Amino acid sequence: MNAGHHDAAWRHPRTSPERATDLRYFQELARTAERGKLDSVFLADGLALWGNARHNVLGGFEPLTLLSALAAVTEHVGLIATVSTTFNEPFHTARKFASLDHLSGGRAGWNIVTSGSVDEARNFGQDEHLEHRLRYDRAREFVDVATKLWDSWEDEAPVIDRERGVYADTDKVRAIDHEGEYFRVRGPLNVQRSPQGYPLLVQAGSSEDGKEFAAQHAEAVFTAQQTLADGQTFYKDLKSRLAGHGRAPQELKILPGICPVIGSTEAEARALEEELTALQVPEYGLHQLSKMLDVDLSGLPLDGTLPDLPEERDINGNKSRFTLVAEMARRDGLNLRQLIARLGGGRGHRVFAGTPEQIADQLEEWFTEGAADGFNIMPPHLPGGLEDFVDHVVPILQRRGLFRTEYTGRTLRDHYGLPRPANRLAVHA
Ligand SMILES: Cc1cc2nc3c(=O)[nH]c(=O)nc-3n(C[C@H](O)[C@H](O)[C@H](O)COP(=O)(O)O)c2cc1C
Repeated sequence: MNAGHHDAAWRHPRTSPERATDLRYFQELARTAERGKLDSVFLADGLALWGNARHNVLGGFEPLTLLSALAAVTEHVGLIATVSTTFNEPFHTARKFASLDHLSGGRAGWNIVTSGSVDEARNFGQDEHLEHRLRYDRAREFVDVATKLWDSWEDEAPVIDRERGVYADTDKVRAIDHEGEYFRVRGPLNVQRSPQGYPLLVQAGSSEDGKEFAAQHAEAVFTAQQTLADGQTFYKDLKSRLAGHGRAPQELKILPGICPVIGSTEAEARALEEELTALQVPEYGLHQLSKMLDVDLSGLPLDGTLPDLPEERDINGNKSRFTLVAEMARRDGLNLRQLIARLGGGRGHRVFAGTPEQIADQLEEWFTEGAADGFNIMPPHLPGGLEDFVDHVVPILQRRGLFRTEYTGRTLRDHYGLPRPANRLAVHA
């Protein structure tokens, strides 16, 4: 997130919004993450100019292109990008991720999304967004095809026998001959099998369809959860679905987001939070909220409450975020101004302001109390918020024995403690 996760971060003196298309800026961020021994960096993405660029630093690099450039200046940190299954073809996607996995020596991860906004559909010749359920149907077939393409080369296929003039043992390179409802793909892929076999599969939808999809395919799940109790319910629910797909609970890592607002004292952290809130542009917040709730809130008084909302079943965009925001407003009796302030830091992800010690306590609690296997750290402002986390929170977690002090593996799956997937198409695997 260019200047940070807070929607007013770009106006804060500790950020550099003019660097949104500066490769060096992102290289510095990735190196900072690596200095902190973090598992990975994650670049979210959408296929439209989301939000209102008049009031925020939006746009910037296409993630796979940027991650390829980051791969060249880092050695350990994982590189995860969002790619939509609704507006891509499996062949393109499989090829790009296989390339990134080779380029990075096995550090690629794919955040599989079905895309939630009609703005994206309108960039691809459609007036309306494909229905939520059908998007997930397409996603399932998409991942199936991509996986087969990654498996279309066995690891031992390139024999490189100069004397005999044989580059590849073509018995180990196969067509996949996929014919399904959404795709017809012959294969094989035109990239050799990559260090991880295929990228780490990440998923981020939390609706009923989203959770089922995750239980079947995902190795890591990003999720927005506001309270420990909600986090525990989600964690238990998702882990309990894995057995139905022949999987063990530890095969999927659950990573709730947290936006840590760090101060050297609690008062300093609160002051930073208030400073960021004071920089918010209300029209921007209303616009974002209108999109999340699928109602037009423009022009409504900020001191008033939300109008009547649709039901979740009628939402064709991001269902889980709709429900989270609607519940938050109801539960805490928030007016529009308060709601915009609460969503400013994490857009529905949990925001926590405190000292490094207090933040470490929160992470430890969620981790030990069954709400998280790890976290998606979403600094409110960049680069400073990431530096503060790496320099002040990570050492506390390390002292408590909760976090690595050195990388012990090479690949992203090594960092997550997950095995390299077997080749399902290999005959002599
Ligand atoms: C941490 C996190 C990151 C996400 N990143 C993206 C993203 O980069 N692009 C995107 O289109 N959707 C993103 N989403 C949205 C989800 O992929 C999904 O579309 C959304 O949660 C709605 O799914 P649902 O209707 O199944 O709940 C993200 C969600 C979370 C929790």
